Amino acid sequence: MAETLEDIAAKMVAKGKGLLAADESTGTIGKRFATIDLESTADSRRDYREMLFRTDEAMKKYVSGVILYDETIRQKAADGTPLVDIIKAAGAVPGIKVDAGAKPLALMPDEKITEGLDGLRERLKEYYELGARFAKWRAVIEIGPHRPSHDCINANAHALARYAALCQEAGIVPIVEPEVLMDGAIATHDIDTCYKVTEWTLKTVFQELYYAGVRLEGMVLKPNMVVPGNKCDKQAAPEEVAEKTVRVLKNCVPSAVPGIAFLSGGQSDEAATEHLSLINELGPLPWAVTFSYGRALQAAALAAWGGKPENVAAAERALLHRAHMNSLAATGTWKPELEKKAA
Ligand code: 13P
Repeated sequence: MAETLEDIAAKMVAKGKGLLAADESTGTIGKRFATIDLESTADSRRDYREMLFRTDEAMKKYVSGVILYDETIRQKAADGTPLVDIIKAAGAVPGIKVDAGAKPLALMPDEKITEGLDGLRERLKEYYELGARFAKWRAVIEIGPHRPSHDCINANAHALARYAALCQEAGIVPIVEPEVLMDGAIATHDIDTCYKVTEWTLKTVFQELYYAGVRLEGMVLKPNMVVPGNKCDKQAAPEEVAEKTVRVLKNCVPSAVPGIAFLSGGQSDEAATEHLSLINELGPLPWAVTFSYGRALQAAALAAWGGKPENVAAAERALLHRAHMNSLAATGTWKPELEKKAA
C-alpha cells in the first residue's frame, strides 16, 4: 500500500534526523565548485553527490531525506547504481526541487517571483515514478527600501499554495519554503524587521494554503530563522534569534503542521547548529523542529574534498560531524564543546 502523506512527513522530521539539501541548480553548484577551483561537469557533480550520499553513518543515523535536483535524481553512481537507490538503501527519503527558480517580478524592481507551475502536474508524476516522495519549492523575499511589496508576498504565497496542492494530489509531500533573505543585495535590516517580514510572509502563506485546500498534516514548512541581515551593524545574540524565531512560528504556524525544517540561508555552520539547538531548548514545541540545510551541512565537506579522490574520507568525516552536530541540535542537546572535541 502506498504510504500516506502523513507517514512520509513523519519520516522526514523523525526525531534527531533532518534533511540534506543537495538540490543546487547547475548554476549554483558551479559557484560552489568555483570555491575549490573545480570545473562543474555532469561527472564532477555526480562524484560529489555520490560521495555525500555514500557517507553511510551520517545518512543512516542523521539524515531523514535528501533534496535532489532534476539532473541528480536521474544520475547513476560510478558503479551504475542510481543515486536514488543509494539514498533509499540508507533509509532516507528521496525528494526533488521542482521550482524553476526565482525570476524578476513584473513591475516590481528588484523583487522575485518563483516560477515552475506550468506542466508541474506531469513533472510530479514522473518524479514520483523516479522515487521522489517529497518536493521543494523556494520563494524568495528580499528586504530593502519599500520592499517586500504586497504583490511580492502575495504572488509568492499563491504560487507556493498551488505547488503544494499539486504535490499532495500526486502523493508527494510539499516542502513549503518561503525564504526571507538574510544575505540579499542590501541586507542591512535589523532582526525586528526580519521578524515583521517573516510574520507577514508566513501569515499570507498559511492563508493561501487554506484557500488551496492543502492538508497541513501532509506538508513540511522550511522557513528562515529570525536573524538580522548579514550587513546589519547590530548582530543578534543566539538566544535572541531563538526566542524571536520561536515566537514568530508560534504566532503563524498551526500545530497541525507536523514539522518545521529550517534553511541555513548563509549562516555559518556553527551558528546554524547553535540556533537550532537553542530553538529546541525552548520546547516543547507543537511541531518537530529540525534542519534542512544545504550550505551549513555541505560547506566543510566540500572544502575537505577539494575535488580530489584521495580526500573522500576526510570529506565524509566532515559531513558526518556536521550531520551529528545538527542531529543533537534537533533535540536541543548540542553543546559548543562538542565542536572542539571533534576538531
Ligand atoms: P541553505 O541551507 O544553503 O540555505 O540551502 C537550503 C535550501 O534548500 C535553499 O533552498
